[in-house]
Amino acid sequence: VKHLLGIRDLTRQDIEQIFQTADEFKAVLQRPIKKVPTLRDTTIVNVFFENSTRTRISFELAEKRLGADVINFSASGSSVSKGETLIDTVHNILSMKVDMVVMRHSASGAPHFLSRHIDVPIVNAGDGINEHPTQALLDAFSIREKLGGVEGKKIAICGDIMHSRVALSNIYALKKLGAEVTVVGPPTLIPKHLAEALGVNVTYNMREALEWADVANVLRIQLERQNMPLFSSLREYNLAYGVTRELLDSLKKEVVIMHPGPINRGVELDSAVADGNESIILQQVENGVAIRMAVLYLLSGRKG
Ligand code: CP
Repeated sequence: VKHLLGIRDLTRQDIEQIFQTADEFKAVLQRPIKKVPTLRDTTIVNVFFENSTRTRISFELAEKRLGADVINFSASGSSVSKGETLIDTVHNILSMKVDMVVMRHSASGAPHFLSRHIDVPIVNAGDGINEHPTQALLDAFSIREKLGGVEGKKIAICGDIMHSRVALSNIYALKKLGAEVTVVGPPTLIPKHLAEALGVNVTYNMREALEWADVANVLRIQLERQNMPLFSSLREYNLAYGVTRELLDSLKKEVVIMHPGPINRGVELDSAVADGNESIILQQVENGVAIRMAVLYLLSGRKG
């Protein structure tokens, strides 16, 4: 594999190799000296055309822990505002002898387009509503860590499925790893044609999904991707589809709670749940660094 553009392109063996490599890097990250010289003579550029907190910091930290030189590029404040194209922007950066590109873009397919024009490995850090592969890898890795494996586990992906690259990448990853997947949310955010195309179970009833699930991966409502409101109000969304303390306490078993962040507290997830005992949200963030170290290392083609 030359690039990581999406989970769709990976095999189960690829994902398991990433996890085994991430296990090793996670052990490194527990040591007093968290840095290894693995990519010491490599320069990586993080090209972000869309905002980010977790993914951007996590990639930068992963690169620095591997000893790489790191350049951070944000579209805002760059010559993109003067009309420079994506290809010109990246060609100019690469001419300064950069070895790998990590890219986030609001357009679905932007990293795939770029991969046809440049010769260095590209890691997709989220493209529009298409994929967010490293998020899905860190999510599945966190489930494996918490429950001892992914195969046969029941995972509910909750909320705004239609606009979520996290949902799509999670569905690909979890199915490849042998999990059972159900998507749950309002019909406006899981239209029937999408539900059929995804090849997963669908319910529009949150209680039913949580009663079934071992894990609930709760997604952010992406208001910025909705041209018109797809539910009547955030309050009503919370009442019907919010994962609340009351709802979780009324179940007969514990459900592991995940969220990719950023959280809309009080909308899709109540604070008492986000910060509760069932939540592994911050472990997901922690695992993101080891997963991204593994991805960058494997794509670099280095051995030993
Ligand atoms: N999970 C995630 O992609 O968060 P950011 O948008 O903050 O990177």
